[in-house]
Amino acid sequence: MIFQAFFDCMNFTSWFLLSFVLLILSDVIRNRRPRNFPPGPWALPLLGNVFTGVDYKTMHELAQKYGPVFSLRRGSERMVFVAGYKMVKEALVSQLDSFVDRPIIPLFHAVLKGLGISMSNGYLWKKQRKFANTHLRYFGEGQKSLEKYIEVECNFLCEAFKEEQGRPFNPHYIMTNAVGNIISSVVFGHRFEYTDPSFRKILELDNDALLLAGSAQTQLYDAFPGLMKYLPGPHQTVHANYREIMTFLNREIEKHQEEWNPDDPRDFIDAYLSEMEKKKEDPRAGFNTETLLACTLDLIEAGTETSSTTLRWALVFMINYPEIQEKVQAEIDRVVGQSRLPTLTDRPKLPYTDAVIHETQRVGNIVPLGLPKMASKDSTLGGYFIPKGTAVTTILSSVLFDKNEWETPDVFNPEHFLDSEGKFQKRDAFLPFLAGKRVCIGEPLAKMELFLFFASLLQHFTFRPVPGKMPSLEGVLGFNNSPEEFRMQAVPR
Ligand code: HEM
Repeated sequence: MIFQAFFDCMNFTSWFLLSFVLLILSDVIRNRRPRNFPPGPWALPLLGNVFTGVDYKTMHELAQKYGPVFSLRRGSERMVFVAGYKMVKEALVSQLDSFVDRPIIPLFHAVLKGLGISMSNGYLWKKQRKFANTHLRYFGEGQKSLEKYIEVECNFLCEAFKEEQGRPFNPHYIMTNAVGNIISSVVFGHRFEYTDPSFRKILELDNDALLLAGSAQTQLYDAFPGLMKYLPGPHQTVHANYREIMTFLNREIEKHQEEWNPDDPRDFIDAYLSEMEKKKEDPRAGFNTETLLACTLDLIEAGTETSSTTLRWALVFMINYPEIQEKVQAEIDRVVGQSRLPTLTDRPKLPYTDAVIHETQRVGNIVPLGLPKMASKDSTLGGYFIPKGTAVTTILSSVLFDKNEWETPDVFNPEHFLDSEGKFQKRDAFLPFLAGKRVCIGEPLAKMELFLFFASLLQHFTFRPVPGKMPSLEGVLGFNNSPEEFRMQAVPR
């Protein structure tokens, strides 16, 4: 009787409202904050904190308010953020096995499908990472061959800068091409001319994809991939760009397959093809052409944008701080002179130059949030409970600018890396390559590149602003934190 009366008085609007209330109730019950879970701002039912931009400046503000371990909700997924040197070290080093896995990040999962190095997990990740590491070390044996590649490229880069004859120009793609040529030599066995339009196109597609990957709309895709994949938006451009980049990489792989001679491995791809033969009995390790494509993308992308963005920051800082530029040049002139390029053996004798490069990495802050990791087991951090499977992001920028670790965190100050006698000093909170099991595998290569490119450029040129247009010290935030586009003058010395 009661039910009959209830159904009789319900019209379309009442049914709609009731369904909505039930949906919200079920969301509240299903997505209740677990006990002793890290605090965070109030989340909207169904949507969570989708209107809170996940960028490092907002994350610093939230850390101020909620403490070094806090949380956000995106859709139905809860994410934990860890801020400050002490807590990040606790998460990545003291609890070495707790936050190793990678959660599914829908934007990148659509491209890499959990294969390769940066987005894979478990046994496959271990095997792929180890193989890439061994290969990078082999090329760095005695640090000779990688140093040779970089030396050759430094000559090309200096020549290209000279051709500008001190006129204003934007160094963006020449720098990216030069740095990209090092990892290309390792992976493909050859470099690309700065005038090669196909490689330039790939660099531009990658740059645009990484910029868009940090946009608010793309973050919406990560929250609601099932719905967003049917809607237009920057995520579609990101995926289209990656499709084109993958086609380019696939062509290189196919060419290698045609020319492959197991007795004469020329590069990473050749060595990988041999490994595919050896690991036929171990399919879980994932040595196949699909994973090779994902590894190639990982190495080329991670190995190009990062070091080249850092070097562009170095130019921005040198132009903004001419007195620091002069001190670097004076040190290089004194130790190396002008008759030969700087080499890695010069580095210990160039503490000021080394300190400037480290400070560039700190303030450049090119990967402010790193990539999310995932609690591999139920864990406790900062007194809070983090259930297995929760996405955990260690905010690298909060380490590089930690007020408790750096004397002048917001100032570009190479003295951070010099002791009272002017000798180079390491700093614990210098973690631009992260720490723990997911630490960057390109760290040794990147350090070589940054030192050799930077020292060679400053040996040959004085960098000046285009009159009236000082390059901005504010970064453009995408997935990376990169300098705004700028033009400069490279005046031969
Ligand atoms: C200045 C240069 C570089 C910086 C600042 C940098 C920074 C980083 C950071 C912070 C991570 C960890 C991301 C995370 O899990 O939160 C990472 C991972 C990675 N980097 Fe680099 N990187 C640089 C250069 C390179 C180079 C040259 C290569 C290629 C040889 C490379 C390859 C990778 C790969 C494959 C990973 C994923 C590792 C994994 O998930 O196991 N990086 N990098």
